[in-house]
Amino acid sequence: MQTFNSTAQLQSALQDARQAGKRIGFVPTMGNLHEGHISLVKLAQQHCDFVVVSIFVNPLQFGANEDLSTYPRTLTADQEKLVAQKADALFFPSAESIYPNGLDQQTTVSVPELTLAHCGSARPGHFDGVTTIVNKLLNIVQADVAVFGQKDFQQLAVIRKMVKDLCMPVEIIGAATARAEDGLALSSRNQYLNKADRQTAAKLSQVIFQAQQSMLKAPSKSLTTSQSEDEAKQQLIALGFDVDYFNIVDAHTLSRINKATSEIVILAAASLNSTRLIDNLSFFR
Ligand code: PAF
Repeated sequence: MQTFNSTAQLQSALQDARQAGKRIGFVPTMGNLHEGHISLVKLAQQHCDFVVVSIFVNPLQFGANEDLSTYPRTLTADQEKLVAQKADALFFPSAESIYPNGLDQQTTVSVPELTLAHCGSARPGHFDGVTTIVNKLLNIVQADVAVFGQKDFQQLAVIRKMVKDLCMPVEIIGAATARAEDGLALSSRNQYLNKADRQTAAKLSQVIFQAQQSMLKAPSKSLTTSQSEDEAKQQLIALGFDVDYFNIVDAHTLSRINKATSEIVILAAASLNSTRLIDNLSFFR
C-alpha cells in the first residue's frame, strides 16, 4: 500500500487504476483506525477493486473548545492496519495542502435543514466543516463508491443530501455500526474513557435499545415520543451521563415523527467526564 501526501500523485495512481478498469472505493477517516474503520474498508472492498483510505483530522469541523489538538494521531499503527487489510492507497494530506489559504478563506458547503438539530445545534459549524472536507475529498478522489459509518447517522444523512443536491457522481454506502461486546459503538474517542466510565459508556446503547423496545411495545399513542425521550434522559443522567440530546425522530427528515413517518431513528449524544459519545438506532414502526 502506498501512502500519498500529494494530491497530484494520488490522482496519477488513481488514473492508472481507472485505466486498468478498476472501480474506485473511498473511505474518508480522521485516522486512529479501529475495527469500525476496518469494517468500512472491507465493505468498500466488496464493492470495488481499488480502495483508497484518507486520514485527515479536519480542523474545519472542530469547534473552538473541542479536541482538535488532542485528537489521537497514530499514523504508523494506522498504516499497519491498512496494509493488513490490503487497502490499496492511503491519502494523508497536510492541513496546508487542503486549506492553502487558511480556514477563513475556504469556500464552504452547507446543507440546510438536516444540519439544524441534534449534533448540528450542539456543535455549531461542525457539519459545514464535514460537508466541505468530504466534498473536497470526493472531488480529489473521484471515487465510484464512498463508504461512511452509520454510527454518525446525521453525518451520513447530511452527506447523502449534499451528494444528491450537488449531483455528485458517487454512490454513498452506509456501513453498520461496529460495536464492542457490551454494545458500545466503536469510536476513536472511547480511549479517552477511564475504566469506570468505559463500563458506564456501554449503557448508552442499552438505554437506546430499551427506548426502542418500549416504543415498539407500547399500545398505539399510550407512550409519547417525548415521554420516551424524557425517561431515557433521566436514566442516562442517573447513570452519570451529561446528556446532550436524546431525540426520537423521523429517520429521513431527522425532525419530529408524524403520520408519514415509516422509519424512526433514536439519536443520542452524551458525555462522561467530557468524553462525548454518540450512538443511534433506526427501526421501522
Ligand atoms: O466521520 C469522520 O471521521 C469525519 O467526519 C469525516 C467523514 C472523515 C470527515 O472529516
